Amino acid sequence: MIRVANLTMQLRGGGHVVSILKGVSFDVPPGQLVSIVGPSGSGKSTLLGLLAGLDIPTAGSIQLNGHEITTWTESQLAHFRRQYIGYIFQSFHLIPTLTALENVALPLELNGAASAQTRARELLDTVGLGHRHGHYPTQLSGGEQQRVAVARAFSCRPRILLADEPTGNLDSATGQRMIDLLLALHREHGSTFVLVTHDATLADRTERIITLHDGMITSDQHAPGTPTLDSCVRRNDGVGDVDSGGRGDDGGDDVDSGMRGDDGGGGVDSGVRGDDQGVRNS
Ligand SMILES: Nc1ncnc2c1ncn2[C@@H]1O[C@H](COP(=O)(O)OP(=O)(O)OP(=O)(O)O)[C@@H](O)[C@H]1O
Ligand SMILES: [Mg+2]
Repeated sequence: MIRVANLTMQLRGGGHVVSILKGVSFDVPPGQLVSIVGPSGSGKSTLLGLLAGLDIPTAGSIQLNGHEITTWTESQLAHFRRQYIGYIFQSFHLIPTLTALENVALPLELNGAASAQTRARELLDTVGLGHRHGHYPTQLSGGEQQRVAVARAFSCRPRILLADEPTGNLDSATGQRMIDLLLALHREHGSTFVLVTHDATLADRTERIITLHDGMITSDQHAPGTPTLDSCVRRNDGVGDVDSGGRGDDGGDDVDSGMRGDDGGGGVDSGVRGDDQGVRNS
């Protein structure tokens, strides 16, 4: 569950202040697959980085599974990211001195997982790199590195997966296979999945497309039949809380129990969401 309200990001560039995000608000129900599209420079990567707590916004609120992350310290954010967030960088960000297997196993080892190597092996097999466990990133093609990055992002079974142009560096056939892989992993894991893309084929296969223009949301379109936040809340009051007991595969340890009260999924219509949740025609 992601709730973003009035998110503003300003940065200093060339001696003056640049407004990159100008009051962005939206909610993503648990498990939803959303793409963020928009022209170059519209603020997509900035928004994704803020959702991962990689940057601090100038103003506004970001709640992930009921936790307001904008007030957290770097170490709280790092801990939360390790536990709950998978991030696929456009430029892979693999560690060059580690093999494919070691790159995928690293987040698991940082989280103290007992069978890190076994799970890493399984994930590399899943992304079709069963024969490349011992290879270093420089010995892999761009598409293969991207697949290692996908395996790594899914390694800790993140509840929230964020991907910045996961097909951006791939030719169309490899990109198509990457889309199939991401969608299959999303279905299997049930993570909330927000991806930034310029790839219309990929965006069209997601449940919802949010369009950014010049730091503002200009459209928010749901594919027909996609559950909205309202319908999810009506169906299952309290859905999306960290402690709602939904998964149980990671022990469910709450990163900051007691730090702030969960809101139990209430107040969803407090003006947070944009009002243009139209149904996509395509
Ligand atoms: N550290 C920074 N200082 C100043 N301006 C920045 C900084 N980082 C990003 N910007 C500006 O913010 C705007 C949005 O950047 P962002 O990378 O979020 O765009 P984007 O939508 O991801 O674009 P693309 O599709 O090209 O990846 C751009 O105009 C960019 O130049
Ligand atoms: Mg970008």
